[in-house]
Amino acid sequence: MSTVSTKEGQLRKQLADVLNQEHHAGCQPWRPVFHLSPSVGLLNDPNGFIHYQGRYHLFYQWNPFACGHGPKFWGHVSSENLCDWQEHSVALVPSEDYESHGCYSGSAIEREGALLLFYTGNVKFSDGGRTAWQCVAEVTDDEVLKKGPVLGLPKGYTGHVRDPKVWQHSDGCWYMVLAAQDRQMQGKVLLYRSRDAFDWHLVGEMAGSQTGSLGDFGYMWECPDLFLLGGKDFLLVCPQGLEPEGDKYQNLFQCGYFSGQLDYQSGTYSHGEFTELDAGFDFYAPQTTEDASGRRLIYGWLGLPDENESSHPTIEHGWIHCMSIPRELIADGNRLKQRPARELMNLRQELVIDSLTSETFTVPEACELLINSVKAPFALHFREAAELAWDGEFISLSRLNWRTGQWEHRRHACKSVNDIRLFHDSSTLEIFINDGSIVMSSRFFPEKNHQVCKYLSDIPGYLQVWSMRPSWLFQERG
Ligand code: FRU
Repeated sequence: MSTVSTKEGQLRKQLADVLNQEHHAGCQPWRPVFHLSPSVGLLNDPNGFIHYQGRYHLFYQWNPFACGHGPKFWGHVSSENLCDWQEHSVALVPSEDYESHGCYSGSAIEREGALLLFYTGNVKFSDGGRTAWQCVAEVTDDEVLKKGPVLGLPKGYTGHVRDPKVWQHSDGCWYMVLAAQDRQMQGKVLLYRSRDAFDWHLVGEMAGSQTGSLGDFGYMWECPDLFLLGGKDFLLVCPQGLEPEGDKYQNLFQCGYFSGQLDYQSGTYSHGEFTELDAGFDFYAPQTTEDASGRRLIYGWLGLPDENESSHPTIEHGWIHCMSIPRELIADGNRLKQRPARELMNLRQELVIDSLTSETFTVPEACELLINSVKAPFALHFREAAELAWDGEFISLSRLNWRTGQWEHRRHACKSVNDIRLFHDSSTLEIFINDGSIVMSSRFFPEKNHQVCKYLSDIPGYLQVWSMRPSWLFQERG
């Protein structure tokens, strides 16, 4: 008996038609080659990231029918080695009444050998109201079986309750953190518990604006994630509504973490201050998973829901946004460091520059650039559309804003620079400074043939550039 509803069949057919029309995904300007980008439409949050039976599965928020945010699908890719990825058929399409306006973000677990997806069924009403259902689906070899909603809206909260992240604790129970907005318009994270991952009970509000030690801290919190690393319970979350404070909170929405201790019985979470994960322009809604080797890996969306979105130049080619590279999280006291996943070394192709001897050089469209032995302030001009500079006090990233045509800047205090690893992929920059203690991520849109870079310093450091190979199958379709 088929489990696919008529509406689901129609949406899948519509999607197949759109994908059949799209021929040259690999050849378009600004298309990254080792970052996941949508063949058509809009990609945003990473979802359902899991290492399941020897393969990494990554799902993602996808609106295949437009380059704006609309009813979201879940795209699906997988890989054995974090380098060579394979595309699967779409995992979730928003076909049922309880998800009529999108299968919103969520996570994946392995339960009794089965791969289960938790996601938010987003429903909007014609009077402007909305509600949300937390739903479950099971991924089998040939299809994704929807099991329907397992949680409705809790009392005291608006329709903005979403993004379930589920994990199993050492007490054998399943736990879920859920993003929420209460009726006083404060952003919160709710903690739920379940014995079987289907029947859920609210433990309490574990963190939020106007909760615990925090004062006003945003009108909505999105995409929570909780995990134990280095003896600390880290809570990742994306608060919306923070005002800029010095160099902090410069982007429209924030993405960062608390370090603390969660009492699983009472749901009380005592934590320190909020720290941003990224000091650049574009990193949002990240999700982590622990793989079989015990590493805590993270992917983020290299984008933000903000005013620059609708002017991305890729829109005229029918697609927008991409995912970050996979990174490993390392606990350093109450701080998190991010290191590029070591597998990315396997994407290195050719050492095109070894020990730079001139100020000016050119870079391939996809490359990794390393700077070591930094002894003096420097400025690295990158393809005439971005600049990384260190003046002895601050490290700054500047980019040419594609909407305004003006330069804009982000900076982070940084007294010394030991090492820099910079990943560049056509229109992306991810910069790991001092073994990932500071990370700056950004999209930018240099002219196609402007490959020239300049490295200016009184005492030049040791600079190397590797070209990188593609990791996505759609490159072969181009
Ligand atoms: C974060 C977010 C999530 C939501 C999803 C919808 O970018 O707003 O809170 O589930 O995107 O695509």
